[in-house]
Amino acid sequence: MSAPRGQFSSNFGFLMAAAGSAVGLGNIWGFPTNVAANGGAAFVVVYLLLAFMLAYPVLMAELSIGRYARRNMVQALRGIATGPVSRGVGTIAGFGGILVASLILSFYAIVAGWMVAHLADPFANLFGASETAAWLTGDSTARNFTFTAIFSGLTMLIIASGVEKGIERWSTLLMPALIILLLMLIAYVLFQPGAMKGLEAYLIPDFSKLSPQLLLSAMGQAFFSLSLGVGTMLIYGSYLSKQESLPRLGALVTLIDVGIAFTAGLLILPAMYVAQEAGTQIYSEAGELIAGPGLILQVLPAMFETMGTSGHFVAIAFFALMVIASLTSSISMLEVPVAFTIENLGMKRRPATLMMGLVIFAISTVIIFNFEALFGLVISIATEYGQPLLGVVLCVFAGWIWNRDQLLMELKEGHPDIEQTVFWKIWPWYVRIACPLLILAAFAQTVL
Ligand code: PHE
Repeated sequence: MSAPRGQFSSNFGFLMAAAGSAVGLGNIWGFPTNVAANGGAAFVVVYLLLAFMLAYPVLMAELSIGRYARRNMVQALRGIATGPVSRGVGTIAGFGGILVASLILSFYAIVAGWMVAHLADPFANLFGASETAAWLTGDSTARNFTFTAIFSGLTMLIIASGVEKGIERWSTLLMPALIILLLMLIAYVLFQPGAMKGLEAYLIPDFSKLSPQLLLSAMGQAFFSLSLGVGTMLIYGSYLSKQESLPRLGALVTLIDVGIAFTAGLLILPAMYVAQEAGTQIYSEAGELIAGPGLILQVLPAMFETMGTSGHFVAIAFFALMVIASLTSSISMLEVPVAFTIENLGMKRRPATLMMGLVIFAISTVIIFNFEALFGLVISIATEYGQPLLGVVLCVFAGWIWNRDQLLMELKEGHPDIEQTVFWKIWPWYVRIACPLLILAAFAQTVL
């Protein structure tokens, strides 16, 4: 069989890795643009509620199942199962998780590749290589292919080094860098003309925008942002020592994720209005704030350009932030299929990483060459259907199928007085009934 399982060396290492997985493009891009499109602070309020009431309980289900089983999602769910039916469902869900994690990585690597290209662009400009710069920011298939390959290669390099030397080491290095870059950028942007208008748009709620659609977007955003449903948090939990309190660590991860999403809003929305002040159009023809790729790839770069030479450095800081955020998330996605290949097929980590990394890169390539048809479709299948439905299965396993005494014993590890806590009084019932119902209700709305 394969080498002994990897493990995080410390509480802090796990925290940085799990927060690194959670904090990604979803926080710095997805959250602020969702806020912009959905009535500013009204969305923020709904999101905060959902993050703690829905996403945190599901995160706890994943972390505890993972740490208990010390296996990947397929083996973990099969291990908890009590009969042939639950074992069958567990197997399907486990493979579903691996598939959805791989699909998410396949489009995520394309977007992250854009970030790497845009990071290279100011360097090209500083060296006067204007043709290269134009290629880097032009939207060509060759550019997309090249930079997806570079980003996928980086992700594979880290995962090939293992849990402690790869995931933990890079996450503990990159996460503090991310926070510093983010704060520096905010400090800079808030002093530019127009920034205050952006703050207003961000922080003053427009509750007339509250709608079922908003709720749904907020739920999808919360699930994506906390990396739920696909076995990422489950596998990170499986590398966690039994001496840590799971409810506490889970709450910290949620707080960091929500905190950074909120903080990123303090950068992105003011930056949009600074761009407007500098003459860039930030509303589409339909009168909506530009939110999709146009925001990060056109509106913000246009603003950097108006800032002269210092704009190059601001652009470098901004896209470095985006690349770092993407990388600490992409490694957690790749770890899902890699852990499965190591544990179930008995492969060594390096060949397993190479194999799964290349398979996923092949999927990215298919998307790149059929961008119009596939890009949006894969995102929607993975994040609107895959993640919530798998989330329901995880809740059902934690709440209904897993033996209650075993669950309690697992949570007592690292938290001996758990039975006396509010957490234990609420969570088991909550994850059993409220979570699946809430997710299904929201899901039914999308489908209908
Ligand atoms: N949480 C990451 C983000 O916000 C995305 C992600 C989804 C990571 C699923 C892992 C698994 O960008």
